[in-house]
Amino acid sequence: YQVTSAEFVISNQDYKKCPKPTLPEFAFIGRSNVGKSSLINALTQRTKLAKISGKPGKTQLINHFIINDQWYLVDLPGYGWAQVSKTQREKFQQRILDYIENRESLVCTFVLVDIRHEPQKIDLEFMEWMGVNGLPFMVVFTKADKLTPNKIQQSLSSYRKTVLKTWEEMPPYVVTSSLKKDGLEDLWDKVQEFSAT
Ligand code: GTP
Ligand code: MG
Repeated sequence: YQVTSAEFVISNQDYKKCPKPTLPEFAFIGRSNVGKSSLINALTQRTKLAKISGKPGKTQLINHFIINDQWYLVDLPGYGWAQVSKTQREKFQQRILDYIENRESLVCTFVLVDIRHEPQKIDLEFMEWMGVNGLPFMVVFTKADKLTPNKIQQSLSSYRKTVLKTWEEMPPYVVTSSLKKDGLEDLWDKVQEFSAT
């Protein structure tokens, strides 16, 4: 996949102020430090794209980037922000959920999960919410370079086992490493597949 252009468009607090929903849109979400910015930069082959939205004092909730003038990539803040109060956090969360639930052009949300960790409650709850509301999502396991192929398989089966306790099937997923640029083509394939439908 060739990225010929990747530009920051706008930061918003409110999904109603997002760009007109004329292009397919893909959102990235996950816990803080999961590797979201790194993945977005690796995917778009830009070193600083995701940082643009991270200017101190300018950090907003919903960050739109336009890729190849064809689709929007949306960087959402992680759940579990450290430095805000609980009520503030809930307000933030609600706004993100509002965006995901109401954004008509949102094709798929990529939920990033650190492959080294046991399934986390907050991730599972978020995916549960997506599932219950019929919102398409994919799990993107990050930092695969930190584990051996064996450990990766162990981690995946542990995830599957947890998920299958409550769900009928494992959600679609890809395994990636931004550092080694692994799994990025798989992710692009998904973007293409989803865009086509
Ligand atoms: P916040 O914006 O703070 O919520 O974090 P983030 O989710 O954007 O994560 P970020 O991309 O900033 O990465 C967090 C840390 O993980 C950094 O130290 C990265 O270098 C590291 N990291 C991210 N992706 C990878 C990866 O694929 N492999 C390895 N080994 N480290 C990674
Ligand atoms: Mg980041």
